[in-house]
Amino acid sequence: MRGWLGPSGFGSKSSWRDVIADLDPESASRNCVLITGATAGIGFETLKAFCSTGATVVVGARDEARAKALACELMSKTTSIVRVLRLDLSCSKSVHAFVDAFLALNLKLTVLVNNAGIMPCPFDADSHRDLAFHVNFLNHFVLTQLLLESFDPAGARVVNVTSEVYRFSYPEGIRFGKIDDDRGYDSVKSYAQSKLALLLWTRYQGEALRERGVQFFAVHPGSVATQGSARARKSSGWRGALLHCVGAPFVKSVECGAATTIYCALHPGASMYNRFGEYYFASCNPRGVREISRDATLARRLVEYAARELDASA
Ligand SMILES: NC(=O)c1ccc[n+]([C@@H]2O[C@H](COP(=O)([O-])OP(=O)(O)OC[C@H]3O[C@@H](n4cnc5c(N)ncnc54)[C@H](OP(=O)(O)O)[C@@H]3O)[C@@H](O)[C@H]2O)c1
Repeated sequence: MRGWLGPSGFGSKSSWRDVIADLDPESASRNCVLITGATAGIGFETLKAFCSTGATVVVGARDEARAKALACELMSKTTSIVRVLRLDLSCSKSVHAFVDAFLALNLKLTVLVNNAGIMPCPFDADSHRDLAFHVNFLNHFVLTQLLLESFDPAGARVVNVTSEVYRFSYPEGIRFGKIDDDRGYDSVKSYAQSKLALLLWTRYQGEALRERGVQFFAVHPGSVATQGSARARKSSGWRGALLHCVGAPFVKSVECGAATTIYCALHPGASMYNRFGEYYFASCNPRGVREISRDATLARRLVEYAARELDASA
């Protein structure tokens, strides 16, 4: 059952297997992919999809032992080579150490998938930080900036896994000056803020790097039943319960949840849409965005803010 199909030829019921079946196997196998958050949920399914093409894959994971066990299992079933390096996206020092280890591998990246994410959660009183902003956006920004020189000069794609929930951020979009402030903190709005930040950055950076052959995509994977989404539902109170009820008929399998990331990472159609200015995708098709995520002033302010954080973390 493929359900409704959009102009790309894929739709909400397309799985990553449908997308891969549409690719030239030889060129897909030549990819060198780096993915975060591939030890569970949508990320693990996305990793399986890349491995099915025979690509070289590097996994950044905070639980190295678990990631290595998963990598061994996938390597025994496919022709892919999967390397695992430690990466904790809540800590910029870990990102720098990860990049040093990655550079030592001397690989040219064709695809970077910034998938790892934490769902709505209470303010982190121990570190006194809004962890969603740091893990979901800021340290993925740091990671990507530090990797820019590793991108294949023949062309590369960056896929940022965001969420349609970006619509429910704070009224000002990004609450500069109050990001790590527990006053006024709201777990759902903070999660949405981190996903709006990914969307703003995707458009801004995509335009800035187009000439260098680096394409930026933002992906809404759909509503997918994972451990992360189950935790989020519990911690989001009545809003989580409401979204669960309203969204239940639209919940996707993980195979369909990984499809849009794979489409944006590998499919020639996505690259063509991107050249025409489309950067946000859902169900393997371009999707319109709210005005706020096209706010160039807000995007520039965000990128300047993140660049200062990158400098401070060096
Ligand atoms: N599921 C949905 O309905 C849905 C909807 C819209 C968007 N999304 C987005 O899709 C992405 C994947 O979601 P999911 O549902 O698959 O989530 P998940 O099941 O909770 O998996 C999250 C992944 O991110 C990793 N991660 C979390 N914190 C990390 C950190 N500090 N450093 C490194 N890795 C870290 C986790 O590693 P561990 O195994 O070590 O915990 C895990 O591999 C997220 O960005 C999420 O926001 C999901």
